[in-house]
Amino acid sequence: MASSAQDSRSIDHFFSAPSGRTDRWRDLHAAARSWSGGATARSTVEAALAELGAIEEFHAFPGAELMAALHERLQSDDANGFLALAKRISLSTITDNYKHDLKEWQAVDLSLPDPGDVASIALGEGSAHRPYFEMLVVTPAPAGRWPHMAAEFRRLRRPEDAFIYETVLVGSLEDAICAAVLNPDIAAVAIYEGFALRSRHDAPILRSVLAAQQPLLDKADEADMALRLAAGLKAIRPELDIYLLSDRRVEKLAGDPRASMIRRVMYQIEEPLELHLSVLEGIKARFETPFFDNLKLYAQRPIGTFHALPIARGKSVFRSPWIRDMGQFYGINLFLAESSATTGGLDSLLEPTGNIKRAQEMAARAFGADHVFFVTNGTSTSNKMVLQALIAPGDIVILDRNCHKSHHYGLVLSGAQPFYVEAFPMTEFSMYGAVPLRTIKKALLDLQAEGRLDRVKMVDLTNCTFDGHIYNTRRVMEECLAIKPDLIFLWDEAWFGFARWSPFLRPRTAMGAAADIEAWTQEPDAVTQYERQRKELGANPSIDKLLDTRLVPDPRAVRLRVYQTNSTHKSMSAIRQGSMVLVRDVDFHKVEAQFHEAVFTHASTSPNQQLIASLDVARRQMELEGYGLVMNAIEVALDIRREVASHPLISKYFSIVGADGMVPKEYRPSGFVDFLAPGTRWDDQLRSMREDEFCLDPTRMTLVCGTAGFDGTGFKGLLASQYNIQVNKTSRNSVLLQSNINNTRSDVALLISVLLKISNEIEARLKQGGEAERKAFVARVHSLMNDVPELPNFSRFHDAFRTDAGDTTPEGDIRTAFFAAYAEEQCEYLPINNPECDRRIDKGPALISANFVIPYPPGFPILVPGQVVTHETITFMRKLDVKEIHGYEKTKGLKLLKPDALAEKKGRSVENGRKKARAA
Ligand SMILES: Cc1ncc(COP(=O)(O)O)c(C=O)c1O
Repeated sequence: MASSAQDSRSIDHFFSAPSGRTDRWRDLHAAARSWSGGATARSTVEAALAELGAIEEFHAFPGAELMAALHERLQSDDANGFLALAKRISLSTITDNYKHDLKEWQAVDLSLPDPGDVASIALGEGSAHRPYFEMLVVTPAPAGRWPHMAAEFRRLRRPEDAFIYETVLVGSLEDAICAAVLNPDIAAVAIYEGFALRSRHDAPILRSVLAAQQPLLDKADEADMALRLAAGLKAIRPELDIYLLSDRRVEKLAGDPRASMIRRVMYQIEEPLELHLSVLEGIKARFETPFFDNLKLYAQRPIGTFHALPIARGKSVFRSPWIRDMGQFYGINLFLAESSATTGGLDSLLEPTGNIKRAQEMAARAFGADHVFFVTNGTSTSNKMVLQALIAPGDIVILDRNCHKSHHYGLVLSGAQPFYVEAFPMTEFSMYGAVPLRTIKKALLDLQAEGRLDRVKMVDLTNCTFDGHIYNTRRVMEECLAIKPDLIFLWDEAWFGFARWSPFLRPRTAMGAAADIEAWTQEPDAVTQYERQRKELGANPSIDKLLDTRLVPDPRAVRLRVYQTNSTHKSMSAIRQGSMVLVRDVDFHKVEAQFHEAVFTHASTSPNQQLIASLDVARRQMELEGYGLVMNAIEVALDIRREVASHPLISKYFSIVGADGMVPKEYRPSGFVDFLAPGTRWDDQLRSMREDEFCLDPTRMTLVCGTAGFDGTGFKGLLASQYNIQVNKTSRNSVLLQSNINNTRSDVALLISVLLKISNEIEARLKQGGEAERKAFVARVHSLMNDVPELPNFSRFHDAFRTDAGDTTPEGDIRTAFFAAYAEEQCEYLPINNPECDRRIDKGPALISANFVIPYPPGFPILVPGQVVTHETITFMRKLDVKEIHGYEKTKGLKLLKPDALAEKKGRSVENGRKKARAA
């Protein structure tokens, strides 16, 4: 977010916090170097020290003692002493050495590790140390006692502790919230009753955000305030373990339903060791990876294998003179941990009863779901599983036509009828946005008007889209449930699994929104809100009126049935193809058997052990450090956006499309413009996330390269082949960059340096090439940026596949169309450049697609089986200059279903339909 020097010193400057902090320490180090070398005055160092600001109080390191030592050296004009300490602290905040080296906490001067040492520690030596975290202690004790309290906690450490922690002490609710937001190392919180409300520092933005709660906070007694703080912290970081220490009737407090989010309520005077042990146990509960832990044990056992899988134990590999290099490359553990056994310490993914079951339950806890299923064949499979489990032949599914192909194929397999809804087009980039809620509501209301609402089972959408459009998941579900209270939602969050770990993004995830809706249905006021709206709408509201109204569902009627699929491998540390299905469905018990059938249908009977283990480990990582990692991914994205926009030369040829460019104004009522727009603060982003129909995931960056004369595919190739930079998908004139939990600031530096290099090359070429080169460049840019084909909407299913469809609604029998193409004699081919195409579209007989036609980019099906081909489709295909079009063979042409063969089929289908109707 845009920031000013003033902002950066207030404690509630929430974005760019970690890198901002390390930058400030680096600045202090640089200032100290100048001071010690006599180049600058002491005042420069004083200013840099002041710049560190109060947020240092929210971090255990360097802590009060080292900060006091710094100030002391400053006061005594000890420039060299100051430099030595500032250098050590600065280095330690970057390398995290303080997390495992006690010497780093001492004020006395140490010999500094040379940069080589630092690198080796960062590269893994640290892994031998006990994992480190910080515990936030919210206390009414005066600040003067805090160092003593921190020392008390330190004294509780025992050699057998599996983890090590330091404490961060604060005295108020505001400070506690700031600490939890700003310090990702905080993993546990101990709240002692009686703390203050206000920070002693300035926190203007936070106060404006908390303003709505102010009357309640002002009235709150000590216990109430502690519970409110706990709820606030959980809303920001649900993974935190919270301990409440009270000196009153703790039994009563523990029985308060609001205390359910507290891990343990304790009597304050009790043995502090009890708290210490509880805190470590809480971390262990997240650290534990039941399947991975067992797999490691299994790998150590001497096991004779008499089953398939010769590579298990590695003997076929390491004994072979010909393939030993594979063993050397992957390492012995890969083979020791290979097995097709499902017993003896392992478990069966298809019917888990042991450690896979536990691992899935822990993932459910972490991701806020009731159930989680691990999937080892990617989200492509997860989607098909969910669709098969929940959808029967003839059911109608409302889905984004622009969704991943696994959904379309899932419907072919299940025999459901797709009701395609269109995302808003972003023609200038040859891509789609997301589906407006009005379109989805209209689909439901039209089906209702046709008396077919009972046939609609599911709304199936992609959140966020490939290009980063995030739905207002809560609003979409609420308004749809107001029309059909038992609707199932499938949110394909293939790219968005990580979002659970950001307080800004979480409310917009499927599970986050489901939790909010569930909480709302239990609010005393929910029924009143519904009744009030019912009265306002009157007996028979028109479709237009319903479309214009923000509909409130009936909380008594709502059956909340939410499914999310995520490619854990796309945004977390799972091995490729590792995916999860998250379930929050009140009626899951009714479909559980079907769900297992779907798993049996699609899951391999030989699931990969490493993959399952990596899903287990990815969960552990996100529960323990996901918050910081996601914060880092967002920071990296903001850095890239900032650098591209502000560099005079790079910005001449390249740009990253802002939120305002990705989301049309009518879907941004909050007025949010972009992350980097001048004056934008985190609360603006928060408001946008709450109010806007669509938001942009900051980590997904559409880099426009058409303005530099490159088409997306060419530019992607150039980056990969010449600069070792891999990017995500492409459009006609852009590439998609994605920042991830693995990215570092060095990656940003690499990307920026490459963009600069390319910009320089363009400049040189234009300079040397004269007018002709300039004209050619302008023409190329114009063609890439302006000669963009209109995106073709879904036309319609041919009548032969609509015998069971509504009169006015567009659903169709995609499955029958798909299998009709299996009879080669029913098919014909027509090249798109053949004038016969145009003649047949105008005069008939209709051109009916026999299969999916999916060009890459943009990657959505421009034709599905049974769809009538129109001029728009043909024009789009003729203008497409991409090489890869799945389902289209250039030499043969479009594969079509012969209308005559279908006429006969239609006759039969109509007759069958009539028979069925008569029987009904
Ligand atoms: C929206 C969406 N859903 C599902 C998938 C398939 O996921 P996987 O690669 O894990 O099979 C993709 C792949 O790119 C996708 O973009």
